[in-house]
Amino acid sequence: MKIALVYKSSTGFTERYAEYIAEKTGAELVKYSERKRVESSDYDILVFGSSIIAAGISGVAWFDKVKNEFKHSFLFVTGANPKEDNPDLEKYIEAEKIKGHDIFYMPGGLNYEKMSAPMRFVMKKMFLPMVKKEQGEDSIMYKMVSSSYSLYDEKYAQPLLDEIRRVFA
Ligand SMILES: Cc1cc2nc3c(=O)[nH]c(=O)nc-3n(C[C@H](O)[C@H](O)[C@H](O)COP(=O)(O)O)c2cc1C
Repeated sequence: MKIALVYKSSTGFTERYAEYIAEKTGAELVKYSERKRVESSDYDILVFGSSIIAAGISGVAWFDKVKNEFKHSFLFVTGANPKEDNPDLEKYIEAEKIKGHDIFYMPGGLNYEKMSAPMRFVMKKMFLPMVKKEQGEDSIMYKMVSSSYSLYDEKYAQPLLDEIRRVFA
């Protein structure tokens, strides 16, 4: 079975998970900008990795358009949120499931140094004030998102790797 792993990553978190998943599964890595060369006649499995931007999944409209052409398709997303003990994240994943997105969530983090200037602007002017308003200035989340951090861990890729292996079995 051939796997194409298309990924969209601006600051590197999604890319790091994508590289790890490709290493473990033999998937061919394809940057989102080159997605048009991924034909369903050439691959059995399509994996799409992206990130949550302002509560939406970046590039998911493309994935929705093409996913049914493949025998199997999987979607993983990275975000700023920790995975454990996070009811807000669980609610988000449930809401996406209703929209037809069965997400494998992998915590990324924030990398202000690698962010483009417009993205950094949105973070400082919209995301940070939103977290402050919703969770308070003394909250763990607000303190966390005020500067760069990484929650990357290979263990978060395991559920997706297990599913891909199940398809192969
Ligand atoms: C403008 C902007 C908006 C974001 N909005 C969210 C969000 O709504 N929820 C979330 O969990 N993470 C949010 N993030 C964090 C990213 O999803 C996180 O940094 C992700 O791992 C980035 O992936 P990448 O490094 O592959 O680009 C946002 C990041 C940026 C720059």
